[in-house]
Amino acid sequence: MPIAAGRVIIEERYNTAQVERLSVLPQFRRKQIGVQMMQTVEKFIREHHPDVTHIKINAQTHAIPFYEKQGYHVTTPEFMDNYIPHRAMEKNLYGVQK
Ligand SMILES: CC(C)(COP(=O)(O)OP(=O)(O)OC[C@H]1O[C@@H](n2cnc3c(N)ncnc32)[C@H](O)[C@@H]1OP(=O)(O)O)[C@@H](O)C(=O)NCCC(=O)NCCS
Repeated sequence: MPIAAGRVIIEERYNTAQVERLSVLPQFRRKQIGVQMMQTVEKFIREHHPDVTHIKINAQTHAIPFYEKQGYHVTTPEFMDNYIPHRAMEKNLYGVQK
């Protein structure tokens, strides 16, 4: 049975990838599985899409600390999506402009 899921949309022409719908089953949360999912996504992008330099996420506001711990930073004020507060976040995969 899968215990976590998510999807990544590669947007080569913008040198970005968008991570969406990341989720871990409640009973498996806070066991570093979300971090492993994000590390797997980043490794996949580095290996298969070298032109992608940035990952973007529309993060649910409550999850911002989870992404900040992995080097993502907030880029927008809060906005509502499907009645849930969100903020856009971004990470430069290579630390500096590539
Ligand atoms: C957000 C989510 C994916 C995190 O997955 P997880 O497996 O529980 O996270 P991890 O155990 O890998 O957490 C890594 C670190 O982030 C922290 N963290 C995780 N979720 C957090 C939260 N909601 N608020 C604050 N810190 C959080 C953990 O404490 C941990 O910190 P540490 O490394 O100092 O111990 C999971 O809580 C989830 O599925 N939530 C419901 C769906 C959702 O909101 N998805 C995000 C949509 S943008």
